[in-house]
This record gives sequence, structure tokens and C-alpha cells, in this order.
Amino acid sequence: MAIWNTSAKYGAVAKFFHWVLAVLILLMLCLGFYMGTISDKVLKGVIVNLHKCLGLIILALMILRGIWALCNVRPAMPTNTRWWERRLERLVHYSFYVVLIAMPLVGWIGASSAGKPPRYGTLALGLPLAQNERLIDLAFETHNFLAGVIIVLISIHIGAAFFHYFFKKDRVLQRMWF
Ligand code: HEM
Repeated sequence: MAIWNTSAKYGAVAKFFHWVLAVLILLMLCLGFYMGTISDKVLKGVIVNLHKCLGLIILALMILRGIWALCNVRPAMPTNTRWWERRLERLVHYSFYVVLIAMPLVGWIGASSAGKPPRYGTLALGLPLAQNERLIDLAFETHNFLAGVIIVLISIHIGAAFFHYFFKKDRVLQRMWF
């Protein structure tokens, strides 16, 4: 499998980023909503820290993915793709980049200001922020709001992928598959 993208299909690296991030983000959404239901203090501490640690990994992967995308050609949409489909595809694409960088970033800002940064073993990776209740509230209100935005974007994205696969049969889904 080619490493780089071509004008016809995605390369192995773009596919790696796509599917690893897809699994991690779905896992993070589940962990995020599950966290609010846990009453056991010890278990909650473990799950919340896992959530934070995976969240920073997503932030790093999204930045690397953006750099890789800038260094690669983007496979062209099939010629029979209508103008509004192209616009919607671009809107969802760029919204994903903005939201999936903003989401872990605001989580990280809130957790750091609350003095509860992600801990990888004994290594605490916090931003140099003082405790600020208004900043913490704003960060997690934004975090909770963006969770909804991510779910809407994922629904449109998966809906479009199946539309191409089952109705248009134009191999758009297959070119991102292995
Ligand atoms: C793409 C990455 C991330 C996703 C998809 C995600 C998703 C979520 C979701 C769905 C919730 C529950 C929201 C709700 O109850 O309405 C949540 C809560 C939370 N997340 Fe994340 N998260 C991400 C990254 C992070 C990061 C990087 C941190 C911190 C370093 C973090 C810290 C938290 C905390 C502390 C809560 C609880 C907030 C509260 O009590 O209201 N998250 N997250």
C-alpha cells in the first residue's frame, strides 16, 4: 500500500490517522458520558485520567494529521459530485479539524486550571495556568457543547459515507478503506 495519497485515493498514513482517530474519538465520547455516571471515587479518578490522557493523544494526532494533509495531494471527488455535496464535504472536513483540536484543548485548559492535569504515571502534563473558577466553568461548558457538535459532525460524515457506498456506488468510502 502506498504511503502517500494520490489524486485517486488515500495512502496508508492518511488511512492510519483516519481510523485510529475514529476509534479514539468514539471511545472518548463514551468515556466522557460514562464519567458523569460513576459514583465510585477510585474508579472515577482512573477513568477521568484515562479520558484526559487519551484526549491529549488525540490533540497530538490531529496536529500531525493536519501537517501530513498539508504535505499530500487530496484525492479528487468523483466528477458527478454536485456543488452542494462538495461544499458540505469541505464544511464538515474543516469543522472536524477545528472542533477536534478545540475539544481536547479546552479540556486541557479546564483540567490544568483546576489543578487536575492529565497524569501519565508520575508525569503530570499541565498547562501553566493559575486556578480560575470562571475559566474552568467556561472551558467545560465549551467542552460539553463541543461534544454535541462532534456527534452531529460524525452523524453527517457517516451518513454521507453510506450514501456514497449504498446509493452513489462511486467508491468514495472504499478509497479510505484498507
Ligand atoms: C477529542 C477529545 C475529547 C473528547 C471527544 C471528549 C469528550 C467528552 C465528553 C463527551 C464529556 C462529557 C460531556 C457531558 O457530560 O456533557 C467530557 C467531559 C470531560 N472531559 Fe473530555 N473529551 C476530550 C478531551 C478531553 C481532554 C484533553 C481533557 C483534559 C485534559 C478532558 C477532560 C474532561 C473533563 C474533566 C470532563 C468532565 C467535565 C464536567 O465535569 O463537566 N477531555 N469529555
